[in-house]
Amino acid sequence: MMVKTAYGSVGIETAGDGIPVVLLHGFPHNRTLWSPQLDFPMSGIYRLTPDLPGFGESSAIEEPSVESWSDWLVALLDTMELDKVVLGGLSMGGYVTLAFWRRYPERVRGLILADTKSGADSAEGKKKRLEMQELVAANGSGAVADQMITGMVGKTTREQRPAVVATLDAMMRKASPKGVHDALDVMRNRPDSTPFLPRITVPTLIICGDEDVLTPPDESRAMARDIPDSHLEIVPKAGHASNLEAPDTFSGLLMAFVQAKIL
Ligand code: MLT
Repeated sequence: MMVKTAYGSVGIETAGDGIPVVLLHGFPHNRTLWSPQLDFPMSGIYRLTPDLPGFGESSAIEEPSVESWSDWLVALLDTMELDKVVLGGLSMGGYVTLAFWRRYPERVRGLILADTKSGADSAEGKKKRLEMQELVAANGSGAVADQMITGMVGKTTREQRPAVVATLDAMMRKASPKGVHDALDVMRNRPDSTPFLPRITVPTLIICGDEDVLTPPDESRAMARDIPDSHLEIVPKAGHASNLEAPDTFSGLLMAFVQAKIL
């Protein structure tokens, strides 16, 4: 469905009812990343999966940053009359989740950090973001998908789950060049969230595929050490897109976390 906020149109899919859990996709995905978590029956949990600005059916916004995207998200929550939510994100979605926590902790009941990390981009990482902006301007999102698809999934998925690889590849090809460009700015300029981790006061579930090469499990282990009320789950035989590669395991962990720590 489409929701209108002060920032423009937002494409969003929802399922179930009960405790609201908002899930933010990674780069360069869209809300369909979370289809398995919408399809999985979860009693007492209202799942909401928006397209981030410039992706899927959502309008791009001015001056994109993790901060402005957090403001965009709070406007969406206000429009949908959601006071406090469990907020989760995969990879880039996790960067926004951590920024949202810093900016609007009063709107958060719990956090889910999937295949993500708290640090900022290195100098080398920032340079690669600029190169990717040139790539998408010259050759479109297909070229970005070609560059990213190998690292986006784990070894087991590359060898045994061609349908998952095809789904992700098609999703990345659909991304608008403007959305890709803006998201690269958002990620390149994001601050280091690591100093804030010890100040997180809500229950936090950290999930990472054991074959994730983009944000390897050690990044998750480090966050788990720093976040006081956190629980770490390493998902076997899954890579960076752990929610798609091991959908039932991921959904079960999400449901168990919300039912045990939030309900
Ligand atoms: C993502 O999956 O969101 C990206 O790989 C994150 C990143 O490039 O830092």
